[in-house]
Amino acid sequence: MEASDVSADLTRVLVSESEIRAKLAELARRIENDYDGDRPLLVGVLKGAVMVMADLARELRIHVDMDWMAVSSYGAGTQSSGVVRILKDLDTDLTDRRVLIVEDIIDSGLTLSWLKENLGLRGAKSVEICALLRKPGAAKVDVDVTYLGFDIPNEFVVGYGLDYANRYRNLRDVAILAPHVYES
Ligand code: PRP
Repeated sequence: MEASDVSADLTRVLVSESEIRAKLAELARRIENDYDGDRPLLVGVLKGAVMVMADLARELRIHVDMDWMAVSSYGAGTQSSGVVRILKDLDTDLTDRRVLIVEDIIDSGLTLSWLKENLGLRGAKSVEICALLRKPGAAKVDVDVTYLGFDIPNEFVVGYGLDYANRYRNLRDVAILAPHVYES
């Protein structure tokens, strides 16, 4: 879906598809270099990270394993609750693995700080984070991100995996959702 297909619902495009792809290529070069000779396990956090995972993994010129977790940090609203539940766990044994968590966005930071600690307790050799977006203005806890795409303002953003009420995930760009959509 293009931004023009839902232009009435969007305030503006914040990060375009081409800017995302260029940034992921940049991050992929760093990751290839840092994991040279190792085979990292990419852990995608469902559902938002599906697009980042798909594009980042294909950009990487090294072998990787991929696994998925589903956690729930939000209720029905737009604010983090701080409660993290595992809805789907990994199938992979993390013993001595180098793990790279792949996320779409760090909002409050609660999900990733919890997840990093949780995966670290499973015997992984290392646990690093790659996140496409981060909202410094919404941070409740500090999260150590090794590979970051963009810092963005504290606005309600959708697209490229990010949803509002399960819509807009298939939008190609990251865009600011117009307030009338979630205030109505
Ligand atoms: C979003 C996002 C992160 C989390 C970030 O997921 O994908 O996992 O929230 O927020 P935090 O930093 O405040 O914890 P969400 O719970 O909306 O689920 P989804 O990926 O399935 O849309």
